[in-house]
Amino acid sequence: MATAEERREELVALYKEVQACTKCPLHETRAKAVFGAGDADADLMFVGEAPGAEEDRQGLPFVGRAGQLLNQMLEEIGLSREEVFIANVLKSRPPGNRDPQPLEIEACRPYLFEQVRLIEPTVICTLGNFATKLLTGNPAGITRVRGTPQVHELGSRTVFLLPIFHPAAALRTPAVKETLRGDFATIPDLLAMGPPVAAEEPLEEAEEADSAPEPPADQLGFFG
Ligand code: URA
Repeated sequence: MATAEERREELVALYKEVQACTKCPLHETRAKAVFGAGDADADLMFVGEAPGAEEDRQGLPFVGRAGQLLNQMLEEIGLSREEVFIANVLKSRPPGNRDPQPLEIEACRPYLFEQVRLIEPTVICTLGNFATKLLTGNPAGITRVRGTPQVHELGSRTVFLLPIFHPAAALRTPAVKETLRGDFATIPDLLAMGPPVAAEEPLEEAEEADSAPEPPADQLGFFG
């Protein structure tokens, strides 16, 4: 098993690969690729849709108004951005903030799965339809599936996947914001449960892992 430091080094290598990526035409119009940012060893990961104008300028995810709401919701459950990892389905901005196209999602998807494999989160919150459909592998829309955790194997890891509304939708509709707040409130209990145990993992091993000391949190704050 790779150590947190080894996984972090691989994540930095992946970051460099994404900066130079030309796998889809979006590289021609982006200012900066937006890899994602946060703790390289985070228990909680968020996956949004794609960078917007401000994210494209800064090379950082969720730095516009939707990002401010995400920060506020995190704060309300006692977490900060530095303690989580925030990524997107697409690493490059679609012009005019149009929807991601299937070929763009296909080109970018290995990067997201590598991020999950290397960060080893316990809980992944998918923000809105694009991230939810990609990571659940199910076409069911966000309104139907939000708020109920699912167990999935992603990037060779078993995780809780919690679909929730995208903060941009919450900015448009007060009722959506309250639903998002309610779904955020369920995150701490999910995190406290620890990673869902894969069926084939012997129970003793899982218990041993539980009693092992926590490795120090490792930041990737320089990203961008
Ligand atoms: N919306 C997203 O989905 N991602 C961002 O990074 C910013 C806004």
